[in-house]
Amino acid sequence: MSFLKETYEFDAIINDITNHARFQELKMELHHGISRYEHSLRVAKMTYYMTKFLQLDYERATRAALLHDFFFNEDMEKYTTSEVFRYHQYEALKNAQECFDIDSKQANMIETHMFPVCHKMPKYVESWIMTLADKIVATHEMYRYKAALTMGIWIIFLFNIITIQK
Ligand SMILES: [Fe+2]
Ligand SMILES: [Fe+2]
Repeated sequence: MSFLKETYEFDAIINDITNHARFQELKMELHHGISRYEHSLRVAKMTYYMTKFLQLDYERATRAALLHDFFFNEDMEKYTTSEVFRYHQYEALKNAQECFDIDSKQANMIETHMFPVCHKMPKYVESWIMTLADKIVATHEMYRYKAALTMGIWIIFLFNIITIQK
């Protein structure tokens, strides 16, 4: 299958989710120095390629991957930072179930994507692949965007100090 056909297929699989008003709100949520919407799309794309290559249940896996971080910062205010790592997947699953049809395999993919930080084990091959895809994408984003964002904040901070003193 050509790259163009795969792009069309990927878009057709996720289209209703990315157009959903609630999911669109992830564009305003900061995650690893970019939006959570963008992060979710990357994980979905990597999951799509990996599960399709391995001839797995790639359509459902791709949709679950897109929804794996479907949570909002305001819902997480009740948690400490370490609890956010361990519990955000349950908020994501709750939101996913409220807005879309989620089967048991997809639910397992979403709620175990933080393994081994969460204590529940991935039960399906697709779950293992998605947790791996999330870690690869997150590592890349933390390195590429969060470092740049931190540096940008420091530059603004130093610029303010210099201009205040003048
Ligand atoms: Fe996550
Ligand atoms: Fe993630």
